[in-house]
Amino acid sequence: MDESRTAAPSDTRVTLAHIMSAHDTNLLGTVHGGNIMKLVDDAAGTVAARYSGGAAVTASMDEMLFLSPVRVGDVVTVHAQVNWAGRTSMEVGTRVETTRWDELSAPVHVASAYLVMVAVDVEGKPRAVRALDPETDEDQRRHREAQIRREHRLARRAAIKESRLAG
Ligand SMILES: CC(C)(COP(=O)(O)OP(=O)(O)OC[C@H]1O[C@@H](n2cnc3c(N)ncnc32)[C@H](O)[C@@H]1OP(=O)(O)O)[C@@H](O)C(=O)NCCC(=O)NCCS
Repeated sequence: MDESRTAAPSDTRVTLAHIMSAHDTNLLGTVHGGNIMKLVDDAAGTVAARYSGGAAVTASMDEMLFLSPVRVGDVVTVHAQVNWAGRTSMEVGTRVETTRWDELSAPVHVASAYLVMVAVDVEGKPRAVRALDPETDEDQRRHREAQIRREHRLARRAAIKESRLAG
């Protein structure tokens, strides 16, 4: 990979779509949240692999709020892009929307999540990724907020480690 070449968040955008069928439901008849999480992970993994030019693994997925149920016949669309990139890790932001398969309805926002993806080499060791160049005001806002989330994730991880060592 040419690590000197930066990329803008818009270059990294991917959209995955899937129509929900009876195979995707839970016992209540609505779509199983795990199926939505898999689509989100697939979209984030694709974004991270394209951005880093190779394999990338999911290091973490932040809290995922399900805002509205997903039903059979919904076309689920996951939009994903890199919000922030460090040395080997990337934060990928995802937004899940649905529309009905047989209506010209406006998309409904059903969930969002942020994932930390780490680029890895053939031995599974972290490898360097290119720099991100947030161009628009919106990209810069996402970049700043991703940095805040990263600081919180790392602080939480360090605090738990410290507490285990103390306990
Ligand atoms: C993700 C993984 C490669 C990180 O390996 P590691 O030896 O801990 O690597 P490091 O400590 O050097 O961390 C690598 C990067 O990930 C970041 N990172 C790792 N865990 C993180 C977390 N929980 N939250 C935020 N960032 C994290 C680090 O800050 C670092 O980022 P940077 O290089 O951009 O500064 C390793 O933990 C792993 O392989 N996990 C399993 C992943 C997997 O299999 N996922 C699929 C599950 S089915």
